[in-house]
Amino acid sequence: MQTRGGYELVRLVNGVMSVRSRAVGETFHPVIGPVAEAEALYVRQLHLAERALSEPAGLVLWDVGLGAAANVLTVLRALRDAASMLTVLSFDHTLEPLRFARTEAACLGYFDGYEGVVDRLLSDGEVRFENGRQPVEWRVFEGDFPSRLDEEAAGDWPKPHAVLFDAYSPARNPAMWTLPLFQRMHDLLDPGRACALPTYSRSTMLRVTLLLAGFFVGTGHPTGEKDQTTIAANRRELIDEPLDERWLQRAIRSTSAEPLREAVYRQAPLSADSLERLHRHPQFGGGTG
Ligand SMILES: C[S@@+](CC[C@H](N)C(=O)[O-])C[C@H]1O[C@@H](n2cnc3c(N)ncnc32)[C@H](O)[C@@H]1O
Repeated sequence: MQTRGGYELVRLVNGVMSVRSRAVGETFHPVIGPVAEAEALYVRQLHLAERALSEPAGLVLWDVGLGAAANVLTVLRALRDAASMLTVLSFDHTLEPLRFARTEAACLGYFDGYEGVVDRLLSDGEVRFENGRQPVEWRVFEGDFPSRLDEEAAGDWPKPHAVLFDAYSPARNPAMWTLPLFQRMHDLLDPGRACALPTYSRSTMLRVTLLLAGFFVGTGHPTGEKDQTTIAANRRELIDEPLDERWLQRAIRSTSAEPLREAVYRQAPLSADSLERLHRHPQFGGGTG
């Protein structure tokens, strides 16, 4: 298999190719592959094509963990020809996985037709183009995402309708899963703009983190062998299957439910303070929401 700069191609059990970071020891979309996962988690679950129709002023997506761009390119293909504008803000602290994947575009398949767009993104950090009939502006913010979020300039970023949240796992990439990070993201959202954030993890720790950050949280669509994922939103009505009292009881018994406060991975049961805050959350009857 091809390798370069710490990344390699791997063939998943279903025969689909994916990118793997050798340094982190994780494959980008390990279960069903890049395109199928992005379609299940983002395109279908968020009804992105319908949402594009219902937002004539255009959609804004934040793509957290650009990586090899499978998520964005799958979304672009699904929204091709949509009449409204699409603005994508991609975040990553390195463009190496995208450079590697671009050299392996033929094997990965999902770049088809977007090679020139990706080349311009890589050289200029932004690209404007017509996705069929859809006008697109795609910008990349290179740098440590938690640090960029804390900059004042983050307040000026276009507010998202959806966040594609795709970091490495909390155990390997704890800086991307802390409570302060999700609180800051929640604070940056426009309360007047419904925004959903799906992600592949279903861990209790992540779900508690999202709730304490101020989101409503529910069970997300399955992706292949993963029977469920997680979806968070700033509006209750965007969540089809909200976490309920039974989930809360399981969280109370869990040995790994307390959010990470800093970028160090550890597992701990819920603290009394977190439990009290969960009880006060509108999702569990603690307010009007
Ligand atoms: C699982 S990969 C993303 C795969 C990608 N979404 C795709 O569709 O190909 C996780 C990405 O998160 C990025 N990442 C990890 N920690 C980060 C940090 N602190 N700041 C910004 N990006 C980070 C990694 O560089 C990596 O590209």
